[in-house]
Amino acid sequence: MLLIFLSNYSHGQQAYSPLPDAFTFSDGKKVTNAKQWDARREELLKVFRSEMYGTSPPRPGDMRFEVFDQEKNALGGKATRKQITIHIKENGREAKFDLLVYIPNKARHPVPAIIGLNFIGNQAISADPGIKLTEAWVENSKMFPCAINGKATEACRGVNAGQWQVDSILDAGFALATMYREEIAADRKEEMFKTGIHTLYPEYQNREDNFGTVAAWAWALSRGMDYLETDKDINSKKVAVFGFSRLGKAALWAGANDRRFALVISNESGAGGAKLFHRGIGENVRRLNTVFPHWYAKSFRKYMDKDTLLPFDQHFIIDLIAPRPVYIASAEGDKGSDPAGEFAAALEADKVFRFLKTDGLPVKEIPHLNQAAMGQIGYHIRDGGHDVTSFDWKQFLIFSNLHLKK
Ligand code: GCU
Repeated sequence: MLLIFLSNYSHGQQAYSPLPDAFTFSDGKKVTNAKQWDARREELLKVFRSEMYGTSPPRPGDMRFEVFDQEKNALGGKATRKQITIHIKENGREAKFDLLVYIPNKARHPVPAIIGLNFIGNQAISADPGIKLTEAWVENSKMFPCAINGKATEACRGVNAGQWQVDSILDAGFALATMYREEIAADRKEEMFKTGIHTLYPEYQNREDNFGTVAAWAWALSRGMDYLETDKDINSKKVAVFGFSRLGKAALWAGANDRRFALVISNESGAGGAKLFHRGIGENVRRLNTVFPHWYAKSFRKYMDKDTLLPFDQHFIIDLIAPRPVYIASAEGDKGSDPAGEFAAALEADKVFRFLKTDGLPVKEIPHLNQAAMGQIGYHIRDGGHDVTSFDWKQFLIFSNLHLKK
C-alpha cells in the first residue's frame, strides 16, 4: 500500500522496503486499544534510546535558575525580557546555559509560549542591545560573519533575526524562549562531548547508547521547560517546542520524550528528524554518522548503509508525540531533507493520530507549494531553500493559535 502512494510523489521511482509498523509490538502482538498504545509508546522510546539518540540522564537534582535580567520595557515596550542562567551541578561538576525569554506585555497573562534552540547565540535572534552576548564558541560562518576567534562580537546582534520573527510571535500573543546550542553541547566533532552538559555525565560516554548532541539539546529544552513551569507569566501547559534543521531534530526528540510540550514544530528537520530513511533519498545514516558523529549514539553507526532496512524509522518519532499536535514543514529546494519523505512520515503517523481519535493529517497527498494543511498534524512545503521564513512562522503561529488558544 505504502509503495503505491509513495510512488505518487517520490523524486523518481525508488525501491524501498515496507515501513516498520507502529501497531506491532516487538514480540508480534498487536496494539488494539489506547492503553496498549501507551505501552507501545514506551517500547518505541526505548528503541530510539538504545539504537539512535542515546539514553539521556534524568532531570538533575541540583538545578538553579538565576534570573539575571528583567526588563519590562524591552523592544520598545512591546515585551518583558528575562534572561535566566540555568545552573546544573552533578557529581561535583557544574554546567550552565542561558535562556532568553520575551513575554508580550499586551497579551493576557499567563501566556502560551514557544521555546526553541538557536544557531548563533541568543543575541542573534534580535538586535535588542540588552541581550547578553554568548560566551560560548561562535562560528564565523559565511552566512553570519560576526565572530572573531570563536567569540561573539557586537556585530553578532540580530544577525539571525530574519529566521525568528520575534515581533510576529509577540503580536500573536506568544512568549518566546530560546537557548544557544553551543552553550549546551559543542556542535563540532573536534570538541564532541568535551563541553557543556556532556562534561557532567562522563560515565554515559562509555556506553553504546551514550546520549549524543541531539539528545543533549533535547534534554536542555526540557530544562528550559523546568524554568518556564516556575514563571507565573507563562502558561506552562501551553508550550510549543520549535526547531529548524538539526535543532528541529532536537525539538522532535524533546517533544517525543517530554509530554509537557503541548505542541511540536519541526522546520526542515530532515534526516534524523522527520524524514523517512526507508525511502533512501536525501541525507542518509552514513552521512549523519560520519559528518556529525557527535549527534547520535554510537549504537546508531551499525545502521550505516542500511537506511532502507532499519527496524524503526522517523514516523515513529511523530507517533511518539501523538495525540499532541505536531507541525512538519518542508522546503522544495531542501533536497537533503527529502521533503516528500518528511510528508510521507507525517502521513504514516496519521494512522496513530486517528487511532487515538484525533483528526490527524487532513490530506493524503503532498499539498501544493505554499499551502498549509492543518489538522492535529500540520504540514506545508514552501518554495525556496533551507531556511525559516516569515511564511513558515505565519503557519506555525496559525497552527499554534488553533491548538493552544482554545
Ligand atoms: C547539515 C546536515 C543536516 C542538518 C543541517 C542543519 O546540512 O546535513 O542534517 O539538518 O546541516 O542543521 O542546517
